Amino acid sequence: MSRQLVGWFGRKLAQQVSPLYQTGESGAQIRPAHFRVTLWIASALRATRTALVSQARVCYGNNMRWCLVTGGAGFLGSHLVEALLERGYRVRVLDDFSSGKRENLAPFQSQIELQVGSVTDVTAVESAIRGCELVFHLAAIASVQRSLEDPLQTHAVCATGTLQVLQAARRLGVRRVVYAGSSSCYGDQSDKLSGETATASLRPCREDDPLRPLSPYAAAKLAGEMYCRAFSQAFGLETVVLRFFNIYGPRQDAKSPYSGVIALFANAMLRGQSPTIYGDGLQSRDFVFVADAVQALLLAAETPSARGQVYNIGTGQATTVLALVEHFNRLLGTNIVARHGPPRPSDVRHSLADITRARRELRYQPRTPLPEGLRLTLDWLRACPEVTAQTP
Ligand SMILES: NC(=O)c1ccc[n+]([C@@H]2O[C@H](COP(=O)([O-])OP(=O)(O)OC[C@H]3O[C@@H](n4cnc5c(N)ncnc54)[C@H](O)[C@@H]3O)[C@@H](O)[C@H]2O)c1
Repeated sequence: MSRQLVGWFGRKLAQQVSPLYQTGESGAQIRPAHFRVTLWIASALRATRTALVSQARVCYGNNMRWCLVTGGAGFLGSHLVEALLERGYRVRVLDDFSSGKRENLAPFQSQIELQVGSVTDVTAVESAIRGCELVFHLAAIASVQRSLEDPLQTHAVCATGTLQVLQAARRLGVRRVVYAGSSSCYGDQSDKLSGETATASLRPCREDDPLRPLSPYAAAKLAGEMYCRAFSQAFGLETVVLRFFNIYGPRQDAKSPYSGVIALFANAMLRGQSPTIYGDGLQSRDFVFVADAVQALLLAAETPSARGQVYNIGTGQATTVLALVEHFNRLLGTNIVARHGPPRPSDVRHSLADITRARRELRYQPRTPLPEGLRLTLDWLRACPEVTAQTP
């Protein structure tokens, strides 16, 4: 019965679709030669389809989901790696561990591909980028102080290293490079103040404001940013630059004298010690919690219209260094008074982001208020006694 049904369907189909069939008095007849050709075409089509589907799986299902995070063992990088894994990306990390740490990657070490090497080494960069669709370029000597001590080394990593990454990305067909730029490129915003201490009247930096780097670090990060733009223009490589303001949160190095102010203050005050303020403490910063910085990196990678653009990533809120001490005293239930040292050269006085463009175009939305972010940072430090114990 089912055979008859199949035969009937076959004949109907044949009458409709193929001139290779001839109809006799007894119904549709298939010429043997034509039948063989039809079978051959069908099997060739099936083989082609299978090959295309499996190729597409390789490209879009596996290889094209690979991304590289340079500097992935660092503070921001390790949080990004974690978020990318949660989103189903396959992640490779290139890091020379000059400031990054293996313990930052420990919780998800088995899920990533780790390459130890420098962004200044062409071979290491090419091997890390091969097969990746996306590159998040975060590797840097991320310290103004260190750039004052060794400007050439900062240039080699931040500027030349970025050029190496862009060149390899272009050669190896990367879809997009997201670059961790720095708000330090704006220089000092004091001239936008109506009164020196009136941070409330500080006009936030917009992306098209003049760029006036004050340190070799700022200059080298800006050079990297300019190379991103140039590669977009000259070679059509998609790049997105995020100018980060002051990022803070768990895993930020609290041991090094080069660390960010929040990590240093949290670490000192948690142990009942006075933090050191360089200058009068009225200098202000736009502090952004690390989860919000990661949110911006993911949006920069996944928003098609972001290509070739530059975005400020902060919160739009200025906080003085003295106010930070007050926040920590409130959270810790202490009454610690800060020590004051001389102002440091090349420290910008005020820094505040206008994040209108990132809000509008990336749908970036900072979600962590400062007291909550500081509490999370203290909780992390409390849970890592080895971090606080070894502090200088
Ligand atoms: N943390 C902030 O407040 C802030 C603000 C603005 C911009 N940024 C930028 O964000 C990025 C990440 O900063 P972070 O705070 O996580 O610093 P970090 O020092 O914790 O991370 C930098 C990482 O880069 C690695 N690295 C350094 N030189 C390298 C090299 N030659 N080759 C390979 N890897 C190398 C380090 O080992 C480290 O893991 C940097 O590009 C920094 O300039 C940070």
